[in-house]
Amino acid sequence: MNLDKALLWLSRKDMLSVRDFLRQVLVTGGSGSGKSSGVVQTIARACLKQGFAIVVFVAKLSEVTAWKEYARATGRLDDLIIMEPGGRYKFNFLDYEMNRPGGGESENIVTMFLILMKMGGRVERSQHSGGSHDPFWEQAMREALKYAIELLKLAHQPVTLSDISRIICEAPTEGKQLERFNNLVGSEDSEAYKELDEWSKEYFTVNCLAWASYNAKTRSEERDFEVIKSYFLKDFATLAPNTRTGVIAQLNAFASPFKTGMLAEYFTEETSPEIFPEEIFKGKILIINFAIKKLLQVGIYAQSIYKYLLEQAIERRPIDDNSKPVFLFIDEAQYFLNGQDAFFLPTARDHLASTIVVTQNLNNLYATMSGANPRDQVNSILGNLNLKFFHANDCPDTNAWAANVIGQTFQEKDSFNFNGGGAGGSFSQQVHYQVLPQEFTMLRTGSAVNNFKIDAIISCSGKKFSNGKNYMRVVFEQPKPEKK
Ligand SMILES: Nc1ncnc2c1ncn2[C@@H]1O[C@H](COP(=O)(O)OP(=O)(O)OP(=O)(O)O)[C@@H](O)[C@H]1O
Ligand SMILES: [Mg+2]
Repeated sequence: MNLDKALLWLSRKDMLSVRDFLRQVLVTGGSGSGKSSGVVQTIARACLKQGFAIVVFVAKLSEVTAWKEYARATGRLDDLIIMEPGGRYKFNFLDYEMNRPGGGESENIVTMFLILMKMGGRVERSQHSGGSHDPFWEQAMREALKYAIELLKLAHQPVTLSDISRIICEAPTEGKQLERFNNLVGSEDSEAYKELDEWSKEYFTVNCLAWASYNAKTRSEERDFEVIKSYFLKDFATLAPNTRTGVIAQLNAFASPFKTGMLAEYFTEETSPEIFPEEIFKGKILIINFAIKKLLQVGIYAQSIYKYLLEQAIERRPIDDNSKPVFLFIDEAQYFLNGQDAFFLPTARDHLASTIVVTQNLNNLYATMSGANPRDQVNSILGNLNLKFFHANDCPDTNAWAANVIGQTFQEKDSFNFNGGGAGGSFSQQVHYQVLPQEFTMLRTGSAVNNFKIDAIISCSGKKFSNGKNYMRVVFEQPKPEKK
């Protein structure tokens, strides 16, 4: 498709092309500044009219009502798929990842779990949740998860979160486990067989090890088994007690919401192929209606699972002339962004993906990002959002940042001096902000009092607008409420 085609006209001479949107988008402005009802609505309708593939991550319930209306107004209701509590679509994410062509890599599943764990507690803004500030914790968790997944595979058991968690949490930690296991498995004695059987009944980890030992036939399977066995019967038991109990506590906390309730029902049972990312790329609109404001942590897990697997599917999708752009709408993005986005965003455009990141201010993002160096991660994400829509804002940090992004130029300033001998005028060139930080406090925010007009300042690095500048002011019209 022609990526230089206009997606949004800003004036008679100015437009934003699909290619501009593929440079990734930030929409920011204070609460009630007009982000959702102005620019997000306008971009949404434009993408819908073009038949693009769209995935909407939902923080507020009102977004779902709005998207249904946009889809109706643009004739796209037939493409609309809503995954929601009480609905028919389910996504057994581990099953999808294990069975997709080229899938099933343990490392990939481990990375997804670690990202999800770090997103735990995001609603409560708990920066310490997920043990995320302890580098030993992360390394130890990564190893435990990896070997548990490998063990399940070698034991020919389905890879499920509850069994991964059981292997780690039920690993025996007392005495010389490795020697005991080796003696029992190597013995022909029926007493030894009986002892192994009883031990297996007591410890799920031992049960899986016994099966894996039986199944390991090739040289590489035998080698892998030796490493896994030694990990669970020796290394894990000798981990620093604090780290080990930390891993077990975190894993229990993470796995527990997937055992019952909504996450168990919609994310661990069957899978509806209609909502596979590969199906959405064909031109569907998927709304993941597990609204965070209503479902809190459950909503975060539900949507983060899909977001992670979607981003990976985007990265491996083949692009040809018939490929449709895919747009990810992430309103209230502070609940959704994570370290993985810093890797995804720089290459998203190569795979025809545009991410619309919407948030009130930068501090929202700094406050909720977890993991090592949250500030650097947020800055890296922001640095990859090249098309920016700034709205009215009272946040001095965001306004100063916006003014800096738009930058400074030499401007002619006239000055008038009084001195003892008389007065005189002069002109001088000085470096000044093109848009002063306080100007963002005075933009219009829609609704009747502003005659439904929303002001935005758009900047796009490397783009020159018809005013000769790298930014321009634009007015978005809010749809007026119908008169009763
Ligand atoms: N369709 C509409 N018609 C008229 N006014 C609206 C409409 N939708 C929202 N408003 C009002 O316009 C203003 C901007 O609302 P909007 O929801 O777009 O802000 P926002 O920037 O998305 O805020 P938030 O960060 O809280 O999500 C608010 O005062 C809101 O009450
Ligand atoms: Mg909004």
